[in-house]
Amino acid sequence: MRYPEHVIEQIREQSDIVSIISEYTALNKRGGSYVGLCPFHNEKTPSFSVSEEKQLYYCFGCGAGGNVITFLMQKENMNFIEAIKYLAERENIKLDETYLTDEELESNRKRGQLLEILKESARYFHFSLRAPENGEALSYLTSRGLSLETIKQFGLGYAPHQFNGLYEYLKQKGYKDELLLESGLFLQGKQSQTMIYDRFSGRVIYPIFDLSKKVIAFGGRVLDGSLPKYLNSPENMLFNKSRTLYGMHLAKNSGAPYFILVEGYMDVIAMHQAGFTQTVASLGTAFTPGHAKLLKRHTGEVVILYDSDNAGQKAALRAIPILRNEGIKVKVLLLEEGKDPDEYLKTHGYDAMKALLEGAPPDIWFQIRTIEKKYQLEIPEEKIKFLQEASIVLAETSSSIEQAIYLKEVSKAYQIDEEAFKAEMNRHYQRGMRKVAMKSEVKSPLQKKQLFNNEVIFLATLYHFPNLTKHVLSYLKPEMFEEGLLFDLAKAILESIEQGTEIDMTYFTTHYADVDEQNIISHVLIHKDQRYEDTTILKKMITENVKRLNKVYIEKRLKETKDINEVQILLFQKKELDKLNIDYING
Ligand code: CTP
Ligand code: MN
Repeated sequence: MRYPEHVIEQIREQSDIVSIISEYTALNKRGGSYVGLCPFHNEKTPSFSVSEEKQLYYCFGCGAGGNVITFLMQKENMNFIEAIKYLAERENIKLDETYLTDEELESNRKRGQLLEILKESARYFHFSLRAPENGEALSYLTSRGLSLETIKQFGLGYAPHQFNGLYEYLKQKGYKDELLLESGLFLQGKQSQTMIYDRFSGRVIYPIFDLSKKVIAFGGRVLDGSLPKYLNSPENMLFNKSRTLYGMHLAKNSGAPYFILVEGYMDVIAMHQAGFTQTVASLGTAFTPGHAKLLKRHTGEVVILYDSDNAGQKAALRAIPILRNEGIKVKVLLLEEGKDPDEYLKTHGYDAMKALLEGAPPDIWFQIRTIEKKYQLEIPEEKIKFLQEASIVLAETSSSIEQAIYLKEVSKAYQIDEEAFKAEMNRHYQRGMRKVAMKSEVKSPLQKKQLFNNEVIFLATLYHFPNLTKHVLSYLKPEMFEEGLLFDLAKAILESIEQGTEIDMTYFTTHYADVDEQNIISHVLIHKDQRYEDTTILKKMITENVKRLNKVYIEKRLKETKDINEVQILLFQKKELDKLNIDYING
């Protein structure tokens, strides 16, 4: 499906980027734009700028940029269509469903109905928890230290000990069996298919929310020691375990400098209640790259706070490379033996937990200490094995700065020769690099920075210093820039300077929906590089780029053209190029 351009444009026009971004960071008007702390990276002084007029944002610190749609895509993990729908709803714009294919219509309708069913069920469970006859469930939760306020905030509930209470309840509201079965809340008799009964019975219920705070699944815990301890909704069109983090709907607004990753429901809830509202958990499933991507949208640093048992340690070791792969800084905190965060908070409280979190060791130290535990370092052969394994950990770290730091620290801590340790690491490093080169589809932050190549930077300069650009218009053609976005930007910028007109933002919003493309657009149209306020530097920059682009262009045309006249002109231009000294009259 594609929404027609005019619809996208109407939505973008009516959605005020300033008011939407204000929900994520405080913006202050300064000159023609609004500035504030960047919601995409941690900073103490504002380098994030929003242009009301262009309806674009850009961070001078981390380079994040785009329009209102890409903002939601990046910040709320929405795709293009979801962002459009969200904005349309917000602005009360009715999206004409005729743009959808029949299949999409059907799937939308079903999605809506499933959400309704889950909402009704969450209400039913929550209501049951408050019913006097289920006092046992409520006292279970309060005896675990949860306040009524917390119970409400997380929408906790109770599925009474019944065969099909929820089923009857929803049936009487008119929902059909087929849909009810798809909700994941019911099971069907093996012998008699007509027998449908509640999946959750006699369990405390933890609703699982998506980022827009809609219930998409449930977890249920027994009140006693029976098994299985937890049951979760199966995956369906609403619920994808490997992309859902419990607590994320609240954590995303915590504004915390780092997020905390725990193992389970109770840990998340206890941590939030204690004040660590940046806590999330992956539920009944291992931590996945999908989880890491979701976290990356909201934070640059994660403290893993898993149970200190063997399983917890192993899970932490597995999560580390997944988080690192997304460019997230990782620390690992293991609580004293046998404790999970929920229990630890009960006995030690907020301050003790806070101190532990702030002192949590970086992932590399955690990995090295885990290896250390396997060996008796007093025995030389064991120490050698330890160092060999430790050197692999360092070799797998892609940053050479980190390697250098840890080579020093680890050598010192274990009294080993740094050079020998380094040689060992390098041996593994060479091998590792080959592996890394093979999975090149992973985009590192560095590659992302390269979005802003010479051409992009030059276009930004042309746009922001029109008084000088005026003098080079005759030397520049859109064809000198890469086909597609850069060509279009060059064309629009050169035209707008020549004719003194505004750039048609509509065109760029509707033709370039991609997050990276919008990032480039906002860089070009917002990033005014202060260094070029110095006209000597600016002139040099412009002259050099004009020469470079002309040279490349002339050579390319010479290869392509068969027109003898053009060849002559090009050859003449090529000769002139070296002598080119742009006459900046008003410079
Ligand atoms: N889990 C699950 N199914 C199970 C056991 C666990 O899905 N049979 C998931 C749950 O999300 C649970 C998490 O793994 O929250 C961690 O499990 P565990 O440490 O056993 O539970 P706690 O969260 O500590 O729960 P409680 O404190 O209520 O015992
Ligand atoms: Mn627990």
